[in-house]
Amino acid sequence: MATTQTFDVLVIGAGPAGYVAAIRCAQLGMKTACIEEWKTAAGKGVLGGTCLNVGCIPSKALLESSEQYEHMLHGSGAHGISISGASMDVAKMIARKDAIVSKMTAGIEMLFRKNKITWLKGHGKFVAKTESGWQLEVRGDAAAETVQATHVIVATGSKARHLSGIRVDNETICDNVGALAFSEVPQRLGVIGAGVIGLELGSVWRRLGAKVTILEALPAFLGAADESVSREAWKLLTKEQGLDIHLGVKIGAIRTASRSGKSTVSVEYEEGGATQKLECDRLVVSVGRIPNTDGLGAENVGLKIDARGFIEVDEYCRTALPGVYAIGDVVRGPMLAHKGEEEGVMAAELIAGQKPRLDLDTIPWVIYTSPEIAWVGKTEQQLKAAGTPYRVGQFPFLANGRAMGQGDTRGFVKILAHADSDAILGVHIVNSRASELIAEAVVAMEFHASAEDIARIVHAHPSLSEVMHEAALAVDKRALNI
Ligand code: FAD
Ligand code: NAI
Repeated sequence: MATTQTFDVLVIGAGPAGYVAAIRCAQLGMKTACIEEWKTAAGKGVLGGTCLNVGCIPSKALLESSEQYEHMLHGSGAHGISISGASMDVAKMIARKDAIVSKMTAGIEMLFRKNKITWLKGHGKFVAKTESGWQLEVRGDAAAETVQATHVIVATGSKARHLSGIRVDNETICDNVGALAFSEVPQRLGVIGAGVIGLELGSVWRRLGAKVTILEALPAFLGAADESVSREAWKLLTKEQGLDIHLGVKIGAIRTASRSGKSTVSVEYEEGGATQKLECDRLVVSVGRIPNTDGLGAENVGLKIDARGFIEVDEYCRTALPGVYAIGDVVRGPMLAHKGEEEGVMAAELIAGQKPRLDLDTIPWVIYTSPEIAWVGKTEQQLKAAGTPYRVGQFPFLANGRAMGQGDTRGFVKILAHADSDAILGVHIVNSRASELIAEAVVAMEFHASAEDIARIVHAHPSLSEVMHEAALAVDKRALNI
């Protein structure tokens, strides 16, 4: 097949990693195209990938709607506001979420037009390397074409991992796609996996009235988080909010049944040596995500994929193939949108001959439960395991005036600093605005700040950020307001 178009850079995938890479390449003067195959249920091609269509953006829209609803039911009375007859119109909530998604994905189309990025609609596949560059096939609704580029950035993302033998129909048994689009609140919602999706989407449907049971294989709750954070989160999410979380279970047979036109699911599981059964109306399977290299033609050009399915790259996202980069969820590191975006910027700037770098140790994590959980850097258990000497400064929101005014004094800020140099090694926050507060900690760590640096910075009063200040003072045992 003859080559139809030639580019400086071809990006495969227009999720947050790929679309940002394409924009940065175009900004740097490169002739750029992006191959994207995603289609809506109605068959319309869309940009934005998992994050915009069935990930970050829609989940946060539903988290906000459900939180506002719960606040009206249970939180407004303390402010002297009485609300009667509050009800949730699920169809309207979902339509609002869909409208946000459409606006965001249309925004990326606009950015592509503004930056003169060619969107090649269809599935991208490596075909060969020739003297004049990399050849890729694009197969969409129109006739397949072969395009060529000097550089390729693979940003094909990830997809939900499913359990073997369990068919996800996204009606009764769902992954993230179905769980973001329920047409009504299930009375009984089962969730397999107490990870980020299980906790966030479990929270959404619980707030709207579902009885939510989460079955988790590991014996420890939120094992990646600092232990004091996971302890606090366990207390708040189970005792305060009623998520029924079972740890250390082994999932057995999962069966669906249909009675009077209504589907139900039963999940057998082992817990503490006994066999149990969970009956529910819908089941969400959220047991992690796997990198997406389906039909990529990696074998045609010798692109290396590791044993876990990730494309092999170095710290600069370079593959072993000259001019070929891979970024985002399809490579090692946290599967987070902002990590992919910054890798996209780095790949584009490397192609342009610049010298960017990205430190995976200062990528912030946020779990958007209520309160939110956020952290950056090392946990206390990681420091102990590495034998790093450290000091801890922790301060609760309970003693903060702004938090009291807002009616949410849950959580704390915990700072871990090196015992000798005082360099900040990790910051862990539980608070309703943790996603915003963590930014100060990321800046501090990127600038190799010490706890004393934060302690000497003036923080506005009254503000939640004062708790960061107090936690930094607490590292040196001189917190002021406790
Ligand atoms: P993706 O977003 O997966 O995009 C990859 C794109 O490549 C897709 O559009 C796909 O169609 C396309 N593609 C794949 N193969 C081909 C091919 N061969 N040809 C053409 N196109 C191809 N992260 C956060 O940081 N914050 C959050 O709050 C957050 N919430 C999430 C909530 C949920 C429910 C889920 C599921 C994920 C969430 N994530 C969140 C994770 C985040 O969505 C991912 O880390 C992010 O989308 C990864 O970006 P990416 O560009 O690498 O891949
Ligand atoms: P996850 O990795 O966060 O959690 C999966 C959980 O399922 C783990 O606790 C794991 O032990 C458990 N599990 C695995 N197999 C199991 C089995 N057979 N039985 C029972 N439990 C089992 O994955 P999740 O929640 O699917 O999310 C995928 C990824 O998407 C996240 O890791 C994150 O990278 C990203 N994400 C990020 C969000 C954010 O930044 N706020 C929100 C949602 C997703």
